[in-house]
Amino acid sequence: MIIAKRAARATTHLRLKRGLSSRASGILSALNIPTNQEISGVYDGQWKGSGEVVESVCPTTGEILARINTASPADVSGALTKSREAYLQFRDVPAPRRGEILRQIREGLAIKREELGALVTLEMGKIRTEGVGEVQEFIDICDYAVGLSRMMNGRVVASERPGHTILEVPNPLGVVAVLSAFNFPVAVYGWNLALSLAAGNATIWKPSPTTPLTSIAVTSIVAKVLEKNNLPGALAGLVTGGQPVGEVLVGSKEVELVSFTGSERVGRIVGQAVVSRFGKSILELGGNNASIVMPDADLSLAVPGVFFGAVGTAGQRCTSTRRLFLHRDIADEFLERLQKLYGALKPGDPLETDTLLGPMHTPAAVNLYKSTIDYLRSIDADILFGGKEYDVTPYDGGNFVQPTIAVPKSVDMSDRIWSTETFAPILNVAIFDELEEAIRWNNAVPQGLSSSLWTRDLRNVGKWTGPSGSDAGIVNVNAGTSGAEIGASFGGNKSTGWGRESGGDAWKQYVRWSACTINFSNEAPLAQGVNFNVD
Ligand code: UN1
Repeated sequence: MIIAKRAARATTHLRLKRGLSSRASGILSALNIPTNQEISGVYDGQWKGSGEVVESVCPTTGEILARINTASPADVSGALTKSREAYLQFRDVPAPRRGEILRQIREGLAIKREELGALVTLEMGKIRTEGVGEVQEFIDICDYAVGLSRMMNGRVVASERPGHTILEVPNPLGVVAVLSAFNFPVAVYGWNLALSLAAGNATIWKPSPTTPLTSIAVTSIVAKVLEKNNLPGALAGLVTGGQPVGEVLVGSKEVELVSFTGSERVGRIVGQAVVSRFGKSILELGGNNASIVMPDADLSLAVPGVFFGAVGTAGQRCTSTRRLFLHRDIADEFLERLQKLYGALKPGDPLETDTLLGPMHTPAAVNLYKSTIDYLRSIDADILFGGKEYDVTPYDGGNFVQPTIAVPKSVDMSDRIWSTETFAPILNVAIFDELEEAIRWNNAVPQGLSSSLWTRDLRNVGKWTGPSGSDAGIVNVNAGTSGAEIGASFGGNKSTGWGRESGGDAWKQYVRWSACTINFSNEAPLAQGVNFNVD
């Protein structure tokens, strides 16, 4: 099998020399991405890239899609200087005019929605509707930010002193660095860019090293809008590359806010580095999300809900369902129905409209899947479904694995099978008798991103959403753990990093708050009645 895959890779190397497959070239051409030359992976008003050359590899076929000139450290420093200059210009543009720029970006994205969605599918590996859905999520947050640009309101605070007024004013913050992950190569950048631009900042983006093409296509669309409006391109800068690029951004005093999405391991390093220079950070780290199914749940909703949560995006969402707690009374029936859905899944080319299961993003992700399955076997877990790679896959070079349902013997949530996030379609199941027990398990892991309860009993809903309920940032009822809309703030607690992005009050982190006391009177009294007169 491995030999076959190597051979397939060797063939695709040859194929790039002869030209890209038509499967890939049509998608790249539709977005004006050259298919016969190295591609610039840096944008700071101009396209460039003098760093290492990286390859973008299709997870479905193993084909090399393109070679990208990523950012050298000098490119990053230069881009940061340009971002600072861009910010100094943009901060004085009135917020509703900034909103107008976002409206145009929204239009640019909408025109290329299908093409960009297809590129996400090609380069990341998620299925077509999810690829397009991600672009839609960017469009949605642009709409939101257009409205927000007329509503980023401060406050007038009642002063205790006569003739005084206190204002809380949101001002632009500076340069925002966005470090995003492979699994949402469009939407997570979109959440950040939209709020950051509305707030009057310059944004500089380091995408995942494995999804450079998507970031280049997105940035091209945004750049066109900026250039058409005579604004500096560095308001939406791009620096592709790996760890060295990230380190410059994270360590730079020129970056006021670092918004990082990724693993807890890297997030810990990023968070500490940013706080050591007193910068601001938004961390979106691991999720280890649970669904709890009560005996009164409507199983015709709950079974497909859990199925999508666990298998959608091949288990590669931060919000994917990784733990399933079933009430004893419905456990057998639930698992039977769930396995039927798993059984109907076929791995396929995610570009085909009827495919529900695409590949893992990288061979490294397949290895992680395999080592977790090995661990499940070593602890004698019942593997109800899956647990291996497919014998027959749509392409030999693809990273396909079977979605897996396992029932570990132990429900000790400190065991690594329960307490760590494995970014793969593996669902671990436990049986409970009382809701309180399931909530305890839900909360007993380090992470706190998303959670969901399936019930029709209002009393359970009250418990679940209240003080003794789920401690996650996302607490759903009769809706799965993944697939949040943009309107509410998105993020998690505990080792997920406490960050909030997207809707709700998330925008308040992208501004510098000024508390302004203004004295309109002819006296200058001190607060709290303090007397500081010499006589
Ligand atoms: C992520 O997995 O990093 O709620 C983001 C969801 C999507 C965003 C997920 N709207 O599943």
